[in-house]
Amino acid sequence: MSGWAALSLGHSHPAVIDALKKQADELMHVTNDAYTVPQVMLGELLIEHSPFDRVYFMNSGSEAVELAMKIARKYGQQRLGGAFGFISAERGFHGRTMGALAAGGTPRYSAPFEPLPPGFDHVPFNDIAALKAKTTAETCAVLLEPTQGEGGVFVADDSYVREVRAWCDEKGILLVLDEVQTGMGRTGSLFAFEQYGIVPDIVAIGKGLGGGVPVSAVLFKEDVGLLEAGEHGTTFGGNPLLTAAAYGAMTWLLANDLPAVAAESGAYLMDGLRRMAQAFPNVTEIRGRGLLVAIAFDKDIAGDMVQACVDRGLLTNPVKPNALRLTPPLTVSKEEIDQAVWIVGQALAEVVVGKR
Ligand SMILES: Cc1ncc(COP(=O)(O)O)c(C=O)c1O
Repeated sequence: MSGWAALSLGHSHPAVIDALKKQADELMHVTNDAYTVPQVMLGELLIEHSPFDRVYFMNSGSEAVELAMKIARKYGQQRLGGAFGFISAERGFHGRTMGALAAGGTPRYSAPFEPLPPGFDHVPFNDIAALKAKTTAETCAVLLEPTQGEGGVFVADDSYVREVRAWCDEKGILLVLDEVQTGMGRTGSLFAFEQYGIVPDIVAIGKGLGGGVPVSAVLFKEDVGLLEAGEHGTTFGGNPLLTAAAYGAMTWLLANDLPAVAAESGAYLMDGLRRMAQAFPNVTEIRGRGLLVAIAFDKDIAGDMVQACVDRGLLTNPVKPNALRLTPPLTVSKEEIDQAVWIVGQALAEVVVGKR
């Protein structure tokens, strides 16, 4: 689980601990009217390793998505004749704040909190025709996850992402990618969008960025960033303690090429799961990218599987009633992967065959 895919380097990694200790002795917090050294260092690192030139720090993934949407709304207001609408995907997940819930495509999360903010349309994922049909003069942006995480681990097709980019260009609207879960190496490249050969206008990141501390960010090109001082802010955004920890985590992640490691480990995990699954006809699919992986079943046994795995020392998540999600740290070893595959096999034997 790695704490909902946040512990990119595993529990209490020395790179994070050392940075936290050093920074705690120096400066834990200060008004966000002032820049701090760790904040600038993390910002520069992210800019250096991305195609963007602006970064704005937040605390959680939801907040990063909210800010991404505010940037798109302001762009729509000033550059697209007042266009304010978002098109996002059915089954998508963007967080639990009101705007993020409105963008999300899972009524189970949002229905109890209606009415939601207006201006959000949803289309089936991986369906370019549906997206084109929904686009109107009021659309300011398309908001998507490159792989839908909470929705069940569904990877966007290569052609889909490229066609969405081309469509946004044609219409002059923004492409906002929510890489809160897929970003920072998890899917096998620092950002998932790199594997599609496209660049979004705005990207939201979080989770693994902090290596276990709550820090998120929005990255964008200067020409779409029309927000002025005072139009957005949060007390702890860019806090020195948290950005120092994230800088420690990210420098270690980059120095050890963890995105490439995640690609290799992910392939090894999926291969192991597929081989194990040959003994279990109930497994219908192993899907995912990098170390964001789901095992799908022909019936709703994910809850029972979670318990059977916990009993054997493995934390997983029933991402759908019939699918189990695995999001190990990017530092997971081959031996640990072998162990996890073995445990999932044992759990399956118990749940579907009744063998302990
Ligand atoms: C794609 C995506 N966006 C946004 C969020 C929300 O992030 P947070 O829980 O840090 O607010 C999540 C969390 O699971 C996520 O997976």
